[in-house]
Amino acid sequence: MASNIENKHNKSHRITIIGGRGKMGQWFARELSKCGHVVSVFGNQDWSNAQSLLGDADLLLVSVPIEKTVEIIKRAAQYLKPTAAIADITSVKTEPVKAMLEHHKGAVMGLHPMFGPKVESFAEQIIVVCRGRNDDEFQWLLDFFKAQGSNLVESTPEEHDKIMLTTQAIRHFARFSLGVFFAEENIDIQRSLSMASPTYKQEVDILKRLFAQSSHLCADIMLATEERCKAIVSLAETYGRLAQLVAQKDRAELVKEFESTQKFFNQAFASEEKQNKVEDYLRSNSFTSQENFDEEQKDSSNNFVLTS
Ligand SMILES: NC(=O)c1ccc[n+]([C@@H]2O[C@H](COP(=O)([O-])OP(=O)(O)OC[C@H]3O[C@@H](n4cnc5c(N)ncnc54)[C@H](OP(=O)(O)O)[C@@H]3O)[C@@H](O)[C@H]2O)c1
Repeated sequence: MASNIENKHNKSHRITIIGGRGKMGQWFARELSKCGHVVSVFGNQDWSNAQSLLGDADLLLVSVPIEKTVEIIKRAAQYLKPTAAIADITSVKTEPVKAMLEHHKGAVMGLHPMFGPKVESFAEQIIVVCRGRNDDEFQWLLDFFKAQGSNLVESTPEEHDKIMLTTQAIRHFARFSLGVFFAEENIDIQRSLSMASPTYKQEVDILKRLFAQSSHLCADIMLATEERCKAIVSLAETYGRLAQLVAQKDRAELVKEFESTQKFFNQAFASEEKQNKVEDYLRSNSFTSQENFDEEQKDSSNNFVLTS
């Protein structure tokens, strides 16, 4: 058996991963078995053995394409023992968590690893955790993620999906369309990189990584919910409106659009800048807390100015 060093609960769990031969499933299978857990993988062809492969699991981890997740949860849940826990790692959370709560009476948790199968380990990777039912039964798993260096961020399935609309669906569409444009225009990428700024290199690198992924995953991320589809259409309308200004060579309107968006970004980062200034000040003056800093601000005649 593999090293138990990171398994602080010191108990080996029987884990079945549906989709365990897929990219993320293999990754989780490898990391969980390294730590002493007994991992079985389950795929498309294994339904005839479902009773023995699923009925014995302490934890069922669902790692299948987004559009199949709910159907597979429903199908798999009937084989689970009542004391088993079920979790999924799908990139959307509302419908999978709802389906797990509906079809399984035991412990339920929604997880979303904010990384792909190319990362080497859990270290410094974010995992969004949506609690469902009987959270305590997942403590060993959450402790395992933390021991491996993950940052766990708690959310509700609804908040997660709302935020992912921007951080995943919109971002994927923006990059996807840029990549399609590069290909349509037959851009000489290598030549362009030879005279590029570091930010252009970064952007090309991001496109390279996007187009190294599965086309189905990219499409699923954009199409996963009706809200995502609507938001993407709305982004395309913004592109259209701005492109119209460019076609009309309407410099004044473009400047106006830029400046109103600039205000939006300044406001969004104002509190962060203020906090950075506070932290710099505390560091350089050896204060121990922001309260001390605030007290000092009241008393002090020094002319340190905070921008709000
Ligand atoms: N890839 C990422 O970067 C990433 C990151 C975070 C979260 N996720 C989430 O992780 C999940 C899996 O993504 P992936 O990239 O690993 O996908 P993938 O490589 O396409 O793997 C999907 C797996 O699902 C299995 N499967 C499909 N239909 C099935 C069925 N009817 N019964 C049993 N198994 C079935 C397949 O089994 P067979 O092997 O038998 O065909 C395959 O192993 C998705 O929900 C995705 O949103 C992905």
